[in-house]
Amino acid sequence: MTDLNQAVREQLINAAVEARANAYAPHSDFQVGAAVLTDDNQIVIGCNVENASYSLCICAERVAIGTAVANGHQSFRAIVVATKGGVTPCGACRQFMSEFGLDTIVITVDVVDGSTKSRPLSVLLPEAFDATELP
Ligand code: THU
Repeated sequence: MTDLNQAVREQLINAAVEARANAYAPHSDFQVGAAVLTDDNQIVIGCNVENASYSLCICAERVAIGTAVANGHQSFRAIVVATKGGVTPCGACRQFMSEFGLDTIVITVDVVDGSTKSRPLSVLLPEAFDATELP
C-alpha cells in the first residue's frame, strides 16, 4: 500500500495543485488544495473554504475526505496537500484522516518549488486516539 506508482503519484499531485486554484480563502489568503487517492484508485479533490465567521473555515483535507466519503469511499491510499511552503496538515485534519486508518500516505507539496515530502499518517499522528479508546 505504501508504494504509489509514479504516474498515479504525479496525477494525484497535479489534482491537488489544480484544486488549490479553487480555494476560497479571502481571509487568510492561504490557498490549500488536496487530492485523496481511494483504495480503488479514484481521485477526489478538495480545497479550503473560509468564512467571515472564522471558526467555520474548513480545511482542504477535510473537504476532500468528506467528499470521498459522500461518494462511497472509506479507505484511502494517499492524500496530497498542496500549499505555498508545503505545510503539513493541521492537527484537526490529522485526527479526521485517522478515522479511516493511519497507513494513508500524506504527501505535502510546495507549489513554489515543486518539492514534496511523503510519510504515513502514523508518523504525523503518533499515539492516535481512536474508537478503541471509547468505553
Ligand atoms: N488549512 C488547510 O486547508 N489545511 C491545513 O492543513 C492547514 C490550514 C487552511 C485553513 C484556512 O483556510 C487556511 O488554511 C489558513 O489556516
